[in-house]
Amino acid sequence: MGFTPRIANKFTANCLTMNKVKLIFTLALLVAGRTLLPAQDRVYSLIPEPVSVQPGQGTFVLTAATPLVVPAGSAEAGKVAAYLADQLRPATGFALKTANAGDKGIGLVLNPQPEARLGAEGYRLEATADKVTIRANGPAGLFYGVQTLLQLLPPGIESKTPVKDARWEVPAVTVTDYPRFAWRGLMLDVSRHFFPKEYVKSYIDQMARYKYNRFHWHLTDDQGWRIEIKSLPRLTEVGAWRVPRVGTFNSNEPPRPGEKATDGGFYTQDDIREIVQYAKERYIEILPEIDVPGHSMAALAAYPELSCSKDPNVQVNPGSKFSTWHGNGTFTMHIDNTLNPSDEKVYGFLDKVFTEVAQLFPFEYVHMGGDECYKGFWAKDPGCQALMKKLNLKDMDQLQAHFNRRVAGILKDKGKKTIGWDEILEGGLAPGAAVMSWRGMKGGIEAARLKAPVVMAPSPHCYIDLMQGDPAVEVFVYSTVRLKSSYNWDPVPQGVDSAFILGGQGNLWTEQIPSTPQVEYMTYPRAFALSEVYWTPKAKKDWNGFLRKVEHHFDRFDHAGRNYARSMYDPVITVKKNLQGLLVVDLAPEVPGLDLYYTVDNTIPNQYFPKYNGPVTMPEGADTFRVISYQGGKPVGRLISIKTPDLEKRVKK
Ligand code: ACM
Repeated sequence: MGFTPRIANKFTANCLTMNKVKLIFTLALLVAGRTLLPAQDRVYSLIPEPVSVQPGQGTFVLTAATPLVVPAGSAEAGKVAAYLADQLRPATGFALKTANAGDKGIGLVLNPQPEARLGAEGYRLEATADKVTIRANGPAGLFYGVQTLLQLLPPGIESKTPVKDARWEVPAVTVTDYPRFAWRGLMLDVSRHFFPKEYVKSYIDQMARYKYNRFHWHLTDDQGWRIEIKSLPRLTEVGAWRVPRVGTFNSNEPPRPGEKATDGGFYTQDDIREIVQYAKERYIEILPEIDVPGHSMAALAAYPELSCSKDPNVQVNPGSKFSTWHGNGTFTMHIDNTLNPSDEKVYGFLDKVFTEVAQLFPFEYVHMGGDECYKGFWAKDPGCQALMKKLNLKDMDQLQAHFNRRVAGILKDKGKKTIGWDEILEGGLAPGAAVMSWRGMKGGIEAARLKAPVVMAPSPHCYIDLMQGDPAVEVFVYSTVRLKSSYNWDPVPQGVDSAFILGGQGNLWTEQIPSTPQVEYMTYPRAFALSEVYWTPKAKKDWNGFLRKVEHHFDRFDHAGRNYARSMYDPVITVKKNLQGLLVVDLAPEVPGLDLYYTVDNTIPNQYFPKYNGPVTMPEGADTFRVISYQGGKPVGRLISIKTPDLEKRVKK
């Protein structure tokens, strides 16, 4: 599994034609590590792929005596050096010391004259046998250079405990690097399921490894309000808790009469300050989202008077069904989860919320949600009708746009810019607001035409909550986005002025994600792919090269003790019917060079069973199709079993 056997395979193949001396020499090279390869053959597994990587000759070896060289008086570089020392300590056991000068060790240098090409986040890293030097215009660049240095070290550097007899080599190299986009984000939904403070930090840590710089924190929704608002204590006393359910989201049993709401949690303001500081030390800005006027059931459980329905019995939703989707993007809510835009009390409430949010989060933007707002209760409400008449609002979209403008005004008063999901375009975009495009890219295209800033986060490519492998072996979600599809997507549509595209992000909605290992499973490796989408020059992207690096990073995750998905090893399965009406199964591996072994006779395949070499016709009466992926003689995929009736359902009409 992983990186080493792939190198070994390459060597094994070559060795067939080598004499014995060469074979021994080659194996010695292999044992000594990839850094002894001739410079031109060196493999660097950097994610995201840098702008330029020039192989060098020789190897830098990190030891307990390696100094971290930071010029005197450079406090910012000193902080990055302290971060590096912290990252290196668990696996190496080294307590590295800093020095102010010296021509050995690891040097962190802030350019006295900024190098325009590098911008605020770029860096140059030069590793020779004697020294590693990272130069940047500012501390963020040094920090990203440090991330590259960590990735140049062997995977064991990710271990949380000392690795015995390790040799901490860095292959000589010169890297010049800077990001394609300023906004490189991941969104984590902590409402549908709550994740503790320590885990949020860990998520942020891992983002930093892959040079993400925006953490979008989806803090409120129908299933939980997760941020302490001191002036509105019921938001967390009531809104952060729901009745416990472990079933399938959207099919869970609604709260029973008198049942205690014991499941949930929230972040205190101290927790939030701690996480903001933690992220800042990793050059990550946090974008808080307060999702209004829809998606507000948890807030309404605390303050029911804020909706049109004013239903005092509304409760935080435990993942039970409360809406019907009509298949064309429209829907009906059976429980009112929407703030009343015609009620001044609502704006007083939002003023309190955003006053505290603005004080807690230093980032220039606050996300106001705006998505999937059901207007059915507004349409029947006399207050909403009167307001529409008074303001000459023609339809419900204009009523939501009025609400959005009020919210944007509140945020402006607090010194913040507004961003919202692309529904905030409907009825007219509030002045100065930025748009997060999620229903495909059309919202982003429209916003860019209006000269509004855009964050591209479209479904499906950026929806890392969707299934990533075959539905037979994934937790069921309504759709799939494979690794390759995320990787190959580009955030700048043709004909759009890229100046308005700030960048993009992956979105992790957590309806079907009750635990932290599942958060990791859904995030990685697709967040590897998106990190290259947002950082790497388009011309340098390379799917096959990326896959090799992903395998190397799986190895790093194994050392770190983090979960990830191996779904890329599952073949893409399509089913057709032939002229005789028999099912025909077609398998397309996402990873080149896999061997796929299958059965149609109700047995469990391995490498001794038929190997796939073209579409398989299911014999009449066959019960189950099964397939498993192998790589280099070892199973790498999961056993996928699909019963005939399920194959029938997959037939493309
Ligand atoms: C969204 O996925 N509702 C923004």
